Amino acid sequence: MVTMEKIVSLAKRRGFVYPACEIYGGLANAYSYGPYGVELKNNIKKLWWKTFVHRREDMVGIDGPILLHPKLWEVSGHTTGFNDAMVDCKKCNKRFRADHLVSDVVGEDLEGELEKMDKVLKEKKVECPDCGASDWTNARNFNMMFKTEMNGVDGDVYLRPETAGAIFVDFKNIIDSMRVKPPFGIAQIGKAFRNEIVAGNFIFRTREFEQMEIEYFIDPETKWESLFEEWLKLQEEFAMALGAKKKDMRRYEHPKEKLSHYSKKTIDTEYKFPFGFSELYGLAHRGDFDLSQHSKASGHKLEYFNVEKNKRYIPHVLEPTFGLDRSLLVSLVSAYNEEEIKGGKRIVMKFPKEIAPIQIAVFPLLRNKPELVKKAKEIYNDLKNNFVCEFDDNGNIGKRYRRQDEIGTLYCLTIDFDSLEKDDLTIRDRDTMKQERVKIKELTDYLINKLERK
Ligand code: GAP
Repeated sequence: MVTMEKIVSLAKRRGFVYPACEIYGGLANAYSYGPYGVELKNNIKKLWWKTFVHRREDMVGIDGPILLHPKLWEVSGHTTGFNDAMVDCKKCNKRFRADHLVSDVVGEDLEGELEKMDKVLKEKKVECPDCGASDWTNARNFNMMFKTEMNGVDGDVYLRPETAGAIFVDFKNIIDSMRVKPPFGIAQIGKAFRNEIVAGNFIFRTREFEQMEIEYFIDPETKWESLFEEWLKLQEEFAMALGAKKKDMRRYEHPKEKLSHYSKKTIDTEYKFPFGFSELYGLAHRGDFDLSQHSKASGHKLEYFNVEKNKRYIPHVLEPTFGLDRSLLVSLVSAYNEEEIKGGKRIVMKFPKEIAPIQIAVFPLLRNKPELVKKAKEIYNDLKNNFVCEFDDNGNIGKRYRRQDEIGTLYCLTIDFDSLEKDDLTIRDRDTMKQERVKIKELTDYLINKLERK
């Protein structure tokens, strides 16, 4: 069974994800993506961009800055309202999310209701998960934005807590410079920063992470319900393209009374991580809140003018949001397989073709036979122009297969003595472990055919 311990250990051992700044004792829940992690992450981003930007006529992309005008966060409500409730244990001084402690006990989400949280913590004698005491400070709000300063700007500037903000403030430029017409969407991938009270579960909740977000603008008179359902399905399908199984996903609809006044509906797609079902993606109907607020505050009309209908309006927006690090965690968890082989065990990461970090590994059968190494190097040098390849001559073939299986390499090519005579090689398939001999002159076509990306 896949556990977080197994994933964290493989991720470090095989160069996917390392604890950040480990030589200095690490930095609370911060991670660095290693050589295979960055390939995997880039492939997920590419797949997302291809799916939601390149393959659609109704989408355009942007890449906005991390440091945005402070007014933006005032207007969006983040400066005053982007809070989580925290409490400290008076005995061990550890800090926790008050709403999480409370919901674990009463099964109810009391987000934003500090007094009620205090009451539950007291009356139910909720114990500190760390030391077992039940002696809490009062719950208080903690703003999660990271503050910084910027030369030439008075007051605080923030690292963006979500990528969405940059999209709304670019709305007018997009309308003026592109031939877009609702329904249309603006997509963006990038870093976001949140000073989470408690981060954890590996890369699931960190303070620096990446989001892939879309603001999908619609005419307020559009029947939005079917579009909303369509986006939910697209989010599930994207998770499945990363390897997630349908049975491991479920939907969580935010209760009406918890929704912001402007939101008509919010549904999270939850995934069954080894630590339980938790939010993977979100989809919200945000009405015209953002564009109206920014219109009022900036004095610029953030509207769309429909020439045919002679109608001017502020579009409503559906916001499908995807966590990139959580997507990568899904791909790791769902790729992980342990298989019995000839009395032994192999760990194999069965990433979908589209996102596997390495497509092809090239081996000379023996590293101390220059003629095999020379031929293998020639093939590797040729293939790396078209594919993501690795050359590996370290250890016996069995050991090399194990290593490539653990990083999810799709095909391993071995050059042996027959190759020198017959000008062919062995191709081993990661999933079936079946081997085939293929002529070297037919190799590129063979691999293109096998690796064809949909
Ligand atoms: N613009 C809407 C928005 O930011 P959110 O639900 O707060 O909504 C969107 O965040 C997605 O970002 C989440 O569904 C999750 O995948 C990811 N995310 C949020 N906080 C995160 C964190 N601390 N670490 C990693 N991913 C996070």
